[in-house]
Amino acid sequence: MINSLRGMNDILSEDYERFTYFINTATEIAQKYGFHFIETPLLEETALFKRSVGESSDIVGKEMYQFIDKGENDVCLRPEGTAGVVRAFVQKKLDKAGGIHRFFYHGSMFRYERPQKGRLRQFHQFGVESFGVDSVYEDATMIMMVADILGACGIGYRLQLNSLGDSNCMPQYRDSLVSFIQSCEDKICEDCQRRKSTNPIRVLDCKNPTCRDLYTNAPKLINNLCSTCQDDFDTLKKILDNNDIAYEIDTNLVRGLDYYSKTAFEFVSDNIGSQSAIAGGGRYDRLVEFLDGRPTPAVGFAMGIERLMELIVMPETAREGYYIGAMDEEAVDLVVSLAQKKRKTDKTTIDYKAKNLKNHLKAADKANAEFCCVIGENELKEASIWVKDLKNKTESTIALKDF
Ligand code: HAM
Repeated sequence: MINSLRGMNDILSEDYERFTYFINTATEIAQKYGFHFIETPLLEETALFKRSVGESSDIVGKEMYQFIDKGENDVCLRPEGTAGVVRAFVQKKLDKAGGIHRFFYHGSMFRYERPQKGRLRQFHQFGVESFGVDSVYEDATMIMMVADILGACGIGYRLQLNSLGDSNCMPQYRDSLVSFIQSCEDKICEDCQRRKSTNPIRVLDCKNPTCRDLYTNAPKLINNLCSTCQDDFDTLKKILDNNDIAYEIDTNLVRGLDYYSKTAFEFVSDNIGSQSAIAGGGRYDRLVEFLDGRPTPAVGFAMGIERLMELIVMPETAREGYYIGAMDEEAVDLVVSLAQKKRKTDKTTIDYKAKNLKNHLKAADKANAEFCCVIGENELKEASIWVKDLKNKTESTIALKDF
């Protein structure tokens, strides 16, 4: 038997209902916020992710589904959605057009990670990206949109917040962090030794307990922000306070992708185990320029749909439409034609086999139909159909011309 690859799941039946319910809910909310759908390819040039997510990140360094295609192009399956949207934004010359452009997307992402609960190799994200708004109010709006989507799905969360500074204050902070790392270099893990020269900020995200202990004494970025970044961060907190969005400041929140500056945030759930991040995002004002576009401020987020599916509180689904069945072989053709007509306006399921009434009622109940409609020998003779309203528990026989 051939099975799906490790960390790659099928989505069907009840899972599929949750999946589509989430996408529909999130889409409706994103549209209310003025965002428009964008679809970008699953396969992109590897260079796109090297230049955006960053060569020093685990995603690019260890987790890419990368290969040379038949035309000798170095390509990979997208590990995330932002880089492709920025590429499309620049390719369509929207950076040159100016103005504000807001997009949302959903689809598969691929990361060759070690699979475990909540961590897949093919997973789905719902994400949004906003271009052209150089205001921390847009950052707050992003956070409020995530909160709205989670609220609409009945999902509780904790919001973690940090500021990563900008090209003004970050380099100075990085230097002081490197000096700190050098002071305890002999005690830190191998990964941190490497990070010290490739991307020192990432040491703050290390999961090794010894490193974590040591870094409690490291200088904090939040105490080293320039006045613009500090003002923006204070404004962000004020907007969230005004709108009753609770948050925790996490000075070690650096995110696993290199393109962020200023606002960085993560929504976590305490109810899904160790892979607790359900959404993450932030501002990335330099990325459009890194990908050869005109400098454009930008901010966005993505939510991990598989992790959310476990948490969604589904609304009760009301009975809907018709179930039509035959109790006599002779009635099957008629039942097929009736169903075909009914489907023009209503959800209609059908059984091609003649069965007794009890079995039809069972099948109608399973299909969650509102009406169970059956034609037997008598109904055939009288050109009628027997109908049971499964909501109100009433029964009637109706002339076919009135059905
Ligand atoms: P990210 O934090 O890498 O950000 O991913 C966003 C979310 O995707 C995570 O919070 C998590 O819920 C889900 N996720 C990530 N990896 C996996 C996995 N292996 N299995 C299951 N779920 C996973 C980004 O991807 C950025 N592009 C977000 C963004 C958009 N920033 C600005 N705009």
